[in-house]
Amino acid sequence: MSNRRNTVLLSVLMALSVSAFVEELDDTFMETRGDDIWLIKFYAPWCSFCKQLDPVWHQIGSELRSLGSPVNVGKSDATASTGLAKEFKVRGYPAILMLKKGVKYNYSGPRTRDGILDFAHRVGGPLVRSLSSLQLFQHAMNRHDVMFVYVGATSQLKENYTSAAEELIVHTYFFSSTRDVLPKVVSLTSLPAVVVFKDGTYFTFDEKHDGDLKSWINRERFPNYLRIDSYTLYAMGESGKLVVLALVEEKSLSEESVRYKSLVEKVSADYRDIYSRNVYFGFMEGSDYINGLVMGEVVVPSFIVVNLSSDGYFLPPGAVETEHHLLDFLNGVLDGSVQFQGGNGVDQRARRFIYDIKVTLTPVFSQAPLLGCFLVVFPIAIIVVFFYLCCKNRPTGTEDGEDGGGLLAPSLQRPTKRTDKKSD
Ligand SMILES: *[C@@H]1O[C@H](CO)[C@@H](O)[C@H](O)[C@H]1NC(C)=O
Ligand SMILES: *[C@@H]1O[C@H](CO)[C@@H](O)[C@H](O)[C@H]1NC(C)=O
Repeated sequence: MSNRRNTVLLSVLMALSVSAFVEELDDTFMETRGDDIWLIKFYAPWCSFCKQLDPVWHQIGSELRSLGSPVNVGKSDATASTGLAKEFKVRGYPAILMLKKGVKYNYSGPRTRDGILDFAHRVGGPLVRSLSSLQLFQHAMNRHDVMFVYVGATSQLKENYTSAAEELIVHTYFFSSTRDVLPKVVSLTSLPAVVVFKDGTYFTFDEKHDGDLKSWINRERFPNYLRIDSYTLYAMGESGKLVVLALVEEKSLSEESVRYKSLVEKVSADYRDIYSRNVYFGFMEGSDYINGLVMGEVVVPSFIVVNLSSDGYFLPPGAVETEHHLLDFLNGVLDGSVQFQGGNGVDQRARRFIYDIKVTLTPVFSQAPLLGCFLVVFPIAIIVVFFYLCCKNRPTGTEDGEDGGGLLAPSLQRPTKRTDKKSD
């Protein structure tokens, strides 16, 4: 009996202590926050994704507390604390943001415990982390697939590096070190230098060749070959590089999928010098995201090359079975002989508009055909009546230049591709 009571008491205590790790914030927050670092989730009471995130949020709160992290964890009902939500420019739910030294950082990765914790550690820590010994350097190398390191003393380049870090810390870690700390095998022709270590090798930033440091970091912040989920693919749009993808099954890969994956990996490694400037390689499990991009059903497994800066894609003109085929396909994409499809022109946006409606309505039709009919027929009837009345009343030779396309155009905008990484 008493054992049972103890368990109940313990779980009550745990519930209390867990919720104590996450503070509910309201509009007074902006006056009381001081200089503390905050990780905040904005939610709405009706939002089911927000509810799903609740247990994760509590775990994050307790984990950061037990680690002694300087990051405070809070949440705020954006429908009640509208002032705060406005201050943070919250546009969708749940919105995950960090506030540090008055700067706000948006989280746009997967809503998982690990993803969010990594973000909190990264943004909550120093902008540029100093690696003062070979041991620290190697430890960092083991933990990060891609590592940017500034090498040298204070300089203009360092200032540029720090300012790039201020914006791009939402995506990647920034380190600094000195020449004598780095392994002897790393050869640098001049100092100071910004070096990226990835794919088992390294190379340095060259302003003449690579242009602006920030864009270069944005271009190079992914490994040459990687597992790509929809969040990553979306973020890769900013790199401006093409992405060669092997699309494979979501679970239990077929033999063919395994072969496709290794084909892409092999080409990425063997031809890195030729392609790495313009191309990333990877594989994606499941085809939902790509189906949305091509507005149809893609075959799995298969190959596709996507250009996310323009929502465009390329499909192989023939079967891709060998390394030779894959290289031909890729070269064809790069020299323009393989046809570019998709894109974000007006016609594509119109197609996407219709596609999105279709995708939204199809499940409604299969589950509740009557409701589906109503949803389609009713608005159409209203539009028809509306146009009928307009035309009837319209004087001939009107000055009104607005045509149907112009009227529709604003609603054809896809959700903006680039989320702001930082806003003050
Ligand atoms: C730093 O950035 C400025 C402006 O982007 C650029 O003009 C300058 O050349 C950069 N300096 C170095 C040393 O990279
Ligand atoms: C991707 O699309 C953009 C915008 O259309 C274009 O400027 C860029 O050259 C394309 N990238 C590649 C590597 O073809």
